[in-house]
Order: sequence, then structure tokens, then C-alpha cells
Amino acid sequence: MKARLAILISGRGSNMEALIRATQYGILKDVAEIVLVFSDNYEAKGLAIAQSFQIPTQFLEKKGKTRQQFDSELVQILQKYNIEWVILAGYMRIVSTVLLQAYPQKVLNIHPADTQLHQGLHGYQWAFENSLKSTKITVHFVDEGLDTGRIIAQQEVDIQGLTSLEAIEKRGLAVEHELYAQTIYNLLKNNSKM
Ligand code: GRF
Repeated sequence: MKARLAILISGRGSNMEALIRATQYGILKDVAEIVLVFSDNYEAKGLAIAQSFQIPTQFLEKKGKTRQQFDSELVQILQKYNIEWVILAGYMRIVSTVLLQAYPQKVLNIHPADTQLHQGLHGYQWAFENSLKSTKITVHFVDEGLDTGRIIAQQEVDIQGLTSLEAIEKRGLAVEHELYAQTIYNLLKNNSKM
């Protein structure tokens, strides 16, 4: 049985696309399927990409709702699709206990920096402005904080000699796309042994 994944996005969706491709003909092919792509932003570019892969998409309006109300509507949607794992990929909302209690240890995020050194937005800009020689992409479990959950995997990216933010982001994203799929693969393999 393949694990049923939902991907939550707010924007571009390049990690989402990489994960879709990994489930269709890459490392996740035999172990996972993307059943749903969800967004809190109906203008998210990734929604059209998901649709081009014939993956169902859902959107929820956030205006006028508390975080808990929003997440309980989200959980209802996820349960309707029998989702087992919730994969955040450029999802710009802090999640509440409503989601975390419905999916304990099953909500993951990817962060473009070492979460122990930099949390929140603009991880590549932070690396660029601090002239780092390398930065670390992080995949972590999600908790109620901003990029504070337990780290599952990290990969160092050499950015020495790169002179623009664009170049750093390009190199980092290529690593993100591989690391996320590989980490999900490892987790699913370990979980199936339990
Ligand atoms: C990525 O850099 C990810 O690490 C961060 O937000 C960005 C999303 O990019 N959380 P994309 O939407 O996957 O292209």
C-alpha cells in the first residue's frame, strides 16, 4: 500500500512538483502517492502545476477565521481524502494543534536554512547577506513554532563563490528537491518496519 500524501503550498510549488515527479517516476514511485494539493492562497502558481499532473487541488479562504477554525476545516478536507502524511512545501502559515493532533508526527516541512540558526522567511537571503560559505537545507517535523520542530535530515550546500542570491537559491532548491523526496522515502521505509 502506498502512503497517501497531501502537499500544502502557498506559492510557486517547485518542491511540490519535484515530489509529484518523485512519486510518478522517481524514488517515491512504489511507496507514496500525492492524493491532494492544498493551498491557503488561490493564486498559488503551484495549483496550476498540480492540476497539469491531474492531481486534485483544494483551497480554503483564511479571512475571518481563527487558526483553529481554518485548521479544523483543513483536517476535514484531509480526512475526506484519507490523507496519512501532510507535507508542507512553501506553506506560509503556522499550523495549530488542531492539525498536529490529527496528524501526530506526520506533518513535515522543508526549510532553506539550518533551522537552529535561522527561522522564518528568506533563508537564502540570510545566507547571502551573511556571506556564508555553506548553508544547510533542513527537513523537520512541524510543531506549533516557526521552524522549531525536530530535525529529521539536513544537507549542506556549498555556496562559496556564488555572487548572487539567485545563484544561491538555484543551487539550494536543487538540493531541496532531492532531499525532500529522499527523506520522505526514508521515513516511510522506517515507518513500515514499525
Ligand atoms: C523553499 O525554499 C522552501 O524551503 C521554503 O519555501 C520555499 C518554497 O519554494 N519553505 P517552492 O514553492 O517549493 O518553489
